Amino acid sequence: MRKQIAAANWKMNLSQNEAATLLNELLSLPHSLQAHQEAIFAVPAIYIPLATQKLAGKSNIYVAAQNCHQKESGAYTGEISAPMFATVGVKHIVLGHSERREYFAESDVLLVEKVNAVLAIESTPIFCCGEPLEIREAGTQNEFVASQLKNALFHLSADQISKVVIAYEPIWAIGTGKTASSDQAQEIHAYIRSVFAEKYGQSIADQISILYGGSVKAANAKEIFSQPDVDGGLVGGASLVATEFAAIINALK
Ligand code: 13P
Repeated sequence: MRKQIAAANWKMNLSQNEAATLLNELLSLPHSLQAHQEAIFAVPAIYIPLATQKLAGKSNIYVAAQNCHQKESGAYTGEISAPMFATVGVKHIVLGHSERREYFAESDVLLVEKVNAVLAIESTPIFCCGEPLEIREAGTQNEFVASQLKNALFHLSADQISKVVIAYEPIWAIGTGKTASSDQAQEIHAYIRSVFAEKYGQSIADQISILYGGSVKAANAKEIFSQPDVDGGLVGGASLVATEFAAIINALK
């Protein structure tokens, strides 16, 4: 069975004390991860050492970065490179989140470089895609998402693509309390898998975990994750509440 993943994206939230409290609370709640299940915490970079220390020795739990610079090192004041994240034990890096595409003008061309940088350090890109509301209303979400995937990922080999995790996050569902219905999620996840199957073959496509993101919470996680092509979630707001995220972990199939 391909990996089922509950990934927290804390975005730019929490003080250090709040971060520590949240992790302590979460660890005190009942949560269980089977061998094919993972929980990933994409925390603000400054809290990576703290989260790593709190989560040390927990199996199938990882600390991730929310972004990285595309270059290895150099005169890029304020930036953090993928190799730097590797040196503090990070194995997953979120790339191409819609907030980065929108507020930091991240293009498909830039994302090609970032994906390569993350794979070069043998880490896993959690590559985000997803359409804005006007594209969903026009009914062209499949074409939109396929072009994001093709432009940023289709240069990869079959071996490389099988190491990428996809997060489908419809922009209209992020932080809005509006989720895609489980049928809508299944439909586009199956389509995304078919895009990879066409290029890389079905058996490679079947290995790729495709997470759903957009107002996932304890109350809807089980239904969304139960869909055959939904392999867990990338969770914003609800990942900041220990009881919510513990329930989301427990909703993995
Ligand atoms: P919300 O869960 O707050 O809608 O955010 C989703 C998201 O952007 C995760 O990356």
